Amino acid sequence: MSQTQFTPRVFSGIQPSGGLTLGNYLGAIKRFVDMQGPEFETIYCMVDLHAITVWQNPADLTRNTRELCAGFIAAGIDPEQSVLINQSQVPEHAQLGWVFNCVARMGWMKRMTQFKDKAGKNAENASLGLFGYPALMAADILVYHATHVPVGEDQKQHLELTRDIAAKFNHDYGVDFFPMTEPVIEGAATRVMSLRDGSKKMSKSDPSDMARINMTDDADAIAKKIRKAKTDPDALPSEAEGLENRPEARNLVNIYAALNDQTVDEVLRDVGGKQFGEFKPMLADLAVAKLSPISGEMARLMDDPAEIDRILSRGSQRAREITAPILKRTYEIVGMVAPVEV
Ligand code: AMP
Ligand code: TRP
Repeated sequence: MSQTQFTPRVFSGIQPSGGLTLGNYLGAIKRFVDMQGPEFETIYCMVDLHAITVWQNPADLTRNTRELCAGFIAAGIDPEQSVLINQSQVPEHAQLGWVFNCVARMGWMKRMTQFKDKAGKNAENASLGLFGYPALMAADILVYHATHVPVGEDQKQHLELTRDIAAKFNHDYGVDFFPMTEPVIEGAATRVMSLRDGSKKMSKSDPSDMARINMTDDADAIAKKIRKAKTDPDALPSEAEGLENRPEARNLVNIYAALNDQTVDEVLRDVGGKQFGEFKPMLADLAVAKLSPISGEMARLMDDPAEIDRILSRGSQRAREITAPILKRTYEIVGMVAPVEV
């Protein structure tokens, strides 16, 4: 079969299920900003339908969605250049999600580690939506025929599933309709770890606020969390190999590198030999310098929620120009009778 040429298009999403963390910023949003430009169309989504796979207080969901949108813009996403949407305003996501529920196999879904982590010991009590989540995620991406998806390391398995779903659909219906999306998992901070435990991901749902840096933390809070971050007693090495088996040290160096747009080796060339007592204040200063303009701008944008709502509505209109024809064609391929003039 001849290979269809797909428009270079970036899609990614973040759940409005709590405040943004430094992990979201370095692993995702900063990368979204970097991908804006003439090379790609860029679409970024607040995945509210995904958020409700676990209970969300309605008022919090509304606020978190607007705050996430403010975070995107404050970090440098231009709502003219990129399309900014919340998922529920573009109904084709959920519609294609249903079709993909019928393509994805139970066996595939049962292997998803994020479900196992999130459902925990009481999987019988998890929502059906949490189990089906990755099929909706595949729909988020493929309803745009997106070719590139920037995400953190934890989403790799979901992107492999997205490719499996695209391939099975194309195979079952004998078409070359959905692209094989490329995951873009790059940079020094694809997996930012907890400040309290170098073996755990930094997460908005960690019960300890000291484990994470929130995008809305003030300078004092950031400095305090970094000062108290777990480390080992040794000095920093001069080369990346010296970070092996030192997860906490590696995490802080990775964060420094990502914030400062450097490689780990470049950072270690400058700070190799220093003790954490000297390095931590450097990291705190850098983090405050990079994050406080963003949190200030977020707060300013949150003063005008009506403008955020207008940005999301305009984004949804633009998005539907892409998604409506792709869904229509999907339904035709599947054999659904289409509406006619009556
Ligand atoms: P979530 O907050 O789970 O919706 O994640 C949104 C995006 O942020 C995804 O691309 C994740 O891979 C990324 N992300 C979340 N936490 C981290 C982390 N600790 N390190 C790197 N990327 C992360
Ligand atoms: N599953 C992602 C997360 O938990 C969020 C997400 C939903 C997403 N749909 C997406 C990411 C599509 C990239 C592309 O972080």
